[in-house]
Amino acid sequence: MKRPVLAANWKMNTGPAAAADFGRAFLAGYPAPTERTILFFPPALAFQSLSEEMRGRADILLGVQNIHWESKGAFTGETSAELARDAGARITLVGHSERRHVFGETDEECALKCAAAERAGIVPMLCVGEKIEDREGGRMSDVILRQLRTGLSRLARPSSTEVLIAYEPVWAIGTGHTATPADAMAAHEILRDELRTIVGERAEALPILYGGSVSPLNSASLLAASGVDGLLVGGASLDPATWLSIVRA
Ligand code: PGA
Repeated sequence: MKRPVLAANWKMNTGPAAAADFGRAFLAGYPAPTERTILFFPPALAFQSLSEEMRGRADILLGVQNIHWESKGAFTGETSAELARDAGARITLVGHSERRHVFGETDEECALKCAAAERAGIVPMLCVGEKIEDREGGRMSDVILRQLRTGLSRLARPSSTEVLIAYEPVWAIGTGHTATPADAMAAHEILRDELRTIVGERAEALPILYGGSVSPLNSASLLAASGVDGLLVGGASLDPATWLSIVRA
């Protein structure tokens, strides 16, 4: 059995002081590790203060929400995988739907970012997901397979590099419309099948998370769905009590 992965994506919310307060409240409610891995993706400016609070907890890892694919140089406003790693990040989101659909990030850019994470020794969590018109037009599978194949296409060592996948249907993110456990199961099975082709037998060990309007009301049933190895949570991860009830689901 894989350990379930519960990931909090704070997006552009929660500054350094609020992150430290959150960290203390969270640890008070979750004082000892359980059989789960907890991930936090705070805003870059809050990374250090949250990281200080979480020090000493091997079950809690911090990541960044985005990286640039170059290592360093004249890229104002960007953060490289190497800089993130040096700050203590163990993981990075790649191709979150807001990066793709608000900032126009392409599949090819996601591939460069996954490769940059691999090069720097941090774990990419590649996010994939279809828009409502793709789902209604019967293209869900085409879209997520294209995002998965292209996103992982530049890894130097696909069969040994640590990778996480997040299935986040765009129509479910921040909308209150959650995919049903059956929807999630179907998409995860499609992704797992393709991972078998890309990375071979290691596909079984790579966590595939579901994300999109996860709440304390639906987290347990989503996590219980076959093939759902964890949850990537936005809005419901911003309040310590709500996030704690999901983490304990
Ligand atoms: P949501 O966001 O939980 O607020 O829908 C999920 C995400 O964007 O990762």
